[in-house]
Amino acid sequence: METLEAIRTRRSVRQFTGEPLSEQQMETLLQAGMYAPSAHDRRPWVFVTSTRAEVLEQLAAQARWWKMLPQAGTAILVCADMTKGEKVKDEMHLSGCNAAIQNILLAAHDMGLGAVWLGVCEGSDMEPPVRQIFHLPDHIRVVGMVAVGHPACAPQQPAERVDFSLWHKEQW
Ligand SMILES: Cc1cc2nc3c(=O)[nH]c(=O)nc-3n(C[C@H](O)[C@H](O)[C@H](O)COP(=O)(O)O)c2cc1C
Repeated sequence: METLEAIRTRRSVRQFTGEPLSEQQMETLLQAGMYAPSAHDRRPWVFVTSTRAEVLEQLAAQARWWKMLPQAGTAILVCADMTKGEKVKDEMHLSGCNAAIQNILLAAHDMGLGAVWLGVCEGSDMEPPVRQIFHLPDHIRVVGMVAVGHPACAPQQPAERVDFSLWHKEQW
């Protein structure tokens, strides 16, 4: 798939067949994440994946927006390793990890898979159980999660999103 076409046609997928991903597919998705840009090329991302039904059920129980996880079959937690932060502000690391998430979403779309970004706000009620479920050490910050699997149906294409009134030339 051409890059611009992938960007234009990617949609969040929340219904899945339940068919598991292959190891090769998982590797391709994580590789895509690892090709993201990062401040000072520090590559702060760390990925924790789970395909275990009981873990996905536990995660799904944390937020009503995460209910698709068991059906998706795979959760990818994207985290930032803050020990890579010497001379780099923490926010920069988080930005790099967000770029990794977007790469994963686009790669999934290109591969004919379905995926949805799941926000895990730091300081929210969801963060402590997520940290506990995945046994995250203190120097690891949670950035976001991706539910990924085989789509049960093709998602609707978005209504027109292009709005050039959002474009300020030279000044606000
Ligand atoms: C930071 C962030 C957090 C999100 N969290 C969730 C979530 O918890 N559950 C969910 O179903 N979708 C979540 N989404 C997906 C958005 O709902 C989705 O991107 C938006 O509705 C636009 O639809 P599209 O992705 O199909 O273009 C999140 C997206 C972002 C960027």
